[in-house]
Amino acid sequence: MIIHKHQIIIVGAGIAGLAAALEAAQAGSDVAVVSKVFPTHSHSVAAQGGTAAALGNMEEDSWEWHFYDTAKGSDFLGDQDAQALFCKEAIEAAYFLEHIGVPFSRTEDGHILQRHFGGHYSNFGKGPPVRRACLAADRIGQAILYTLFGQCLHFKVKFYNEFLITHILLQDEGCSGVMGWDIIHGGMHAFQGKLTLLATGGCSRLFKITTNSAINTGDGMGMVLESGLPLEDIEFIQFHPTGLYPWGFLISEGVRGEGGYLINQEGERFMRIYAPERMELAPRDVVCRAIQSEIEAGRGIGGKPYVHLDITHLPDELIKEKLPQIREMAIKFAGIDPKRQPIPVAPTAHYSMGGIPINIDCEVLADGKKKIVPRLFAAGECACVSIHGANRLGTNSTMECVVFGRRAGRRMAKIAGRLNFLPLPEAKIKEGLDEIDSLLNRSAKLPLAEIRERLQEGMTKNCGILRDKSSLKAQVELIQDLKAAYREIGLKGIPREYNLALQEAMELKHMLNLSGAIVQSALARKESRGAHYRIDFPNRDEEGWLRHTLVFMEGEKYKLEYKPVVITRFEPEERRF
Ligand code: FUM
Repeated sequence: MIIHKHQIIIVGAGIAGLAAALEAAQAGSDVAVVSKVFPTHSHSVAAQGGTAAALGNMEEDSWEWHFYDTAKGSDFLGDQDAQALFCKEAIEAAYFLEHIGVPFSRTEDGHILQRHFGGHYSNFGKGPPVRRACLAADRIGQAILYTLFGQCLHFKVKFYNEFLITHILLQDEGCSGVMGWDIIHGGMHAFQGKLTLLATGGCSRLFKITTNSAINTGDGMGMVLESGLPLEDIEFIQFHPTGLYPWGFLISEGVRGEGGYLINQEGERFMRIYAPERMELAPRDVVCRAIQSEIEAGRGIGGKPYVHLDITHLPDELIKEKLPQIREMAIKFAGIDPKRQPIPVAPTAHYSMGGIPINIDCEVLADGKKKIVPRLFAAGECACVSIHGANRLGTNSTMECVVFGRRAGRRMAKIAGRLNFLPLPEAKIKEGLDEIDSLLNRSAKLPLAEIRERLQEGMTKNCGILRDKSSLKAQVELIQDLKAAYREIGLKGIPREYNLALQEAMELKHMLNLSGAIVQSALARKESRGAHYRIDFPNRDEEGWLRHTLVFMEGEKYKLEYKPVVITRFEPEERRF
């Protein structure tokens, strides 16, 4: 097995991974980024509407208003110490992005242009909506990702592209790196580091309809769970209200931010019923349930499971300048010119609020509480710090990647110099190699695509926007059956080069284990909060459930623990919009 040795190993080349890599490389560390895809194909590239920072370029704004909105948006499940730090540091982070060359859209006097997004208001939620989303037309992810990638190349970050990381190398002394499969040539490699960062992104590919790229299979979260470490608040999966029907591709909230309306079969702006004050700019969990309720009441367009997003009233120049990609997607995929016809949209799985528990320096927490796993870090969507709690505000995710990616890079650069390399754990490596060999040498009894599709369909149906005890129990049983079926897969006779079946097999293992963790956590949480809506427990329950879930895997069983939410300033209150 080939071994690559660098001070700092970063798994994942999205915004969090590259922000960390740049920070550490600028501080003089030897940094390697290992990515499943070429870095510019990382899923961050798909972020559209903007990135949050209370710059106040359009009207008065403050980090404290942003903090309040983030706390209320999270349905008070986010940790307020982390939320306050995030909202403060977001401002400096936006200027950092500007200074490294991110091509933001501009106001007439040359400042970063900002737009409205759901859940972002002024004066501690009492004032009108505030424009806080810093935009680059409708391609913020591409603008940030490409700029960071260029900077990383400039600062000599080493890239290992198209490697599928399959195992984290953990031992009592901490993490000594990762191992993974060379997708292009075949064969296992070890990446040995003094420090390792997981920035592996989200897991919305667990669902059938999603905004996420094919790569978002929750690998980092799955590997952490399989290593006996916990995941936090993983039952909170965000559905984005406006996926292009029927595919689920993202149609940015920025469209509503620019003045788009949601319309049902009766031609009504139905958000009037669900969020009379904030209408289309209510937070996502609220808008999603509103759309779902309209569909279930038979008021979807033509009785079908979608509604309309109408921007026909917006000026042509605004659509072309600020929403060019949305326009192009509507034309190319749906055959609709959005200036003339409304866009068909429906909720689509988008984001995981929960993930690998970390502290504010992005160190992974072994018990989910205080005890750190030496030398292991996580940042971005795969991590949970937790600022999003039960529901994330749009535009807080790309900024989270920048703020916490940079914090991780800074911290790692600071401590890497005083550490030696740990030896690689031979037994762990052998276990990993044996697992791959066994897959490659076994004959298949079942096609793995069928297992994956049944999992995704089940997660959408049983663990989607609306859940209850019986749907979640049905999903527990389905996952058990699918895990049994997984043991029957084999890849004998498939060449080693570009063996995408091996990649899919390893991803599917994580997907099954992670789905089990999500469903068990959701089954246990007997309340509705943010994106977790239990039909059989429709209210928020402060007494019983104002606490974070920690889920561990012990063999094939899941164990649940809980920890308190950090509340420093804003007491939970009723969420009315
Ligand atoms: O709607 C959007 O443009 C998505 C933004 C986000 O998820 O933060």
